Amino acid sequence: MTKKFTPAPWPRHLRSQEWFGGSGRDQIYHRGWMKNQGFPHDLFDGRPVIGILNTWSELTPCNAHLNDLAQRVKNGIYEAGGFPVEVPVFSASESAFRPTAMMFRNLAAMAVEEQMRGQPMDGCVLLVGCDKTTPSLLMAAASTDLPSIIVTGGPMLNGYYKNERVGSGTHLWKFSEAVKAGEMTAAEFAEAEASMSRSPGSCNTMGTASTMASMAESLGMALSGNAAIPAVDSRRRVMAQLTGRRIVQMVKDNLKPSDVLTKEAFENAIRTNAAIGGSTNAVIHLLAIAGRVGIDLTLDDWDRCGRDVPTIVNLMPSGKYLMEEFFYAGGLPVVIKRLGEAGLLHKDALTVSGETMWDQVKDVVNHNPDVILPAEKALTKSGGVVVLKGNLAPKGAVLKPSAASPHLMTHRGRAVVFEDIDDYKAKINDEALDIDETCVMVLKNCGPKGYPGMAEVGNMGLPPKVLRKGITDMVRISDARMSGTAYGTVCLHTSPEAAAGGPLAVVQNGDFIELDVPNRRLHLDIPEEELAHRLAAWKPTHDVADSGYLWLHQTHVQGADTGADLDFLKGGRGAPVGRDSH
Ligand code: FES
Repeated sequence: MTKKFTPAPWPRHLRSQEWFGGSGRDQIYHRGWMKNQGFPHDLFDGRPVIGILNTWSELTPCNAHLNDLAQRVKNGIYEAGGFPVEVPVFSASESAFRPTAMMFRNLAAMAVEEQMRGQPMDGCVLLVGCDKTTPSLLMAAASTDLPSIIVTGGPMLNGYYKNERVGSGTHLWKFSEAVKAGEMTAAEFAEAEASMSRSPGSCNTMGTASTMASMAESLGMALSGNAAIPAVDSRRRVMAQLTGRRIVQMVKDNLKPSDVLTKEAFENAIRTNAAIGGSTNAVIHLLAIAGRVGIDLTLDDWDRCGRDVPTIVNLMPSGKYLMEEFFYAGGLPVVIKRLGEAGLLHKDALTVSGETMWDQVKDVVNHNPDVILPAEKALTKSGGVVVLKGNLAPKGAVLKPSAASPHLMTHRGRAVVFEDIDDYKAKINDEALDIDETCVMVLKNCGPKGYPGMAEVGNMGLPPKVLRKGITDMVRISDARMSGTAYGTVCLHTSPEAAAGGPLAVVQNGDFIELDVPNRRLHLDIPEEELAHRLAAWKPTHDVADSGYLWLHQTHVQGADTGADLDFLKGGRGAPVGRDSH
């Protein structure tokens, strides 16, 4: 049963007044220095101070337009009687960070949490877009529990190449395999690459960025309709302004993340992810966010809630269209309404608007049934993320059925093992590699500790000699992640990971592996005693750092099955006002 929210009385003393209120030496110091920016004295009179946490960066190209949106958020905050302060925060760029942006999600969450806690903010607008920026700021907000609301930067406009839709990432994989198979020249590839990103914004497929924007909205942490508005559409600016207005009232009401992020909210998001054919990365991020608010969310919840939810959003990588068309069709509210009509929604889940989820969506209309499909035409009848278990994945592995090949959902094949990503790169193009399409490709040491940071390499490309036969999919197993824009019969997040001594670490070339998706089973077909013997003899082979953030990460990161957060960051710590230093 969703708990009822009762707004706090207003006016009341806000935490920002600990910095700005009164006439003590400390308060004069805090106010006085702020006044060097030209802020009038009455802005410090006890009105809500709102931090606009901006993940803008020119090296996070998906967020490079956020400064414009920040201005719109400010307008809304001023209109509603608040005091906006724009604060640059750690921006974990998916396209530029090495070894992988995922290694920095927790660092970003930790840094932002302390920026929220240690500075005079009564509430926050989380201005995000690119994949990791959304979960990292949500994790921070969950830990401080300061009133917070998300507004995303929105997706890029559709890309076109030779008059065909080109989806961010999805076509990158297709094009690069076409180049390997000799079906596309390098010049054609360069032209296609330029066609892919034709406007500001995040990836325009239902990749991780669009998925996480949808997760934020279905969790109730963004205003309804936020997820799909294109980055350059004027209505994105309106959404930013309305978000600015709303956060001021949220602070007055003391409407906090813990009021919104209930178990019911997470179940709504899991079902939404199934309906949109969302990224497997959402599994890790939602588990981590839940861990920050103390919600007991597990991999089993993903399988239980997602099972039997049809994928009805016809977007790449599972389908045909892109986010722009999703917006024109009515966007995420239409999908959430459909879940409600099917009895798959906690309708009374509270949202940041102050309304219930159902009240927000009950009157929306689907404007394009080829983009948001009727249930009988669903891309996949059971679209949820599948959680596999077995002696190869005692703590679970995940697979996205809407991106997989039906004929491989039950498969037994000979393992071809790559000890790590360098081993894979060294061997995959070797014509002498003993592999065909019936084999199972196994990649080790790409998990949270091993890579480190759990890179998106789980959808490893097929060997050229298989591609040349016109084969486009094989069963692949790893402890890595997969880009939300990718596809294939790919078992990901295998836990425990190889670098932590999981059974994946001891798979050998020539072993047989059984994948049985209907029965949720991933099995290494060797005698139990042989598996025990190999595990007892196992020694780690991955590099381990002895200093710096890399050391902190490798020493404290938890398994993918619980969200790959750092162990000491789990749980909420609130936002108490610390001692003044002056
Ligand atoms: Fe930033 Fe896809 S790389 S959203």
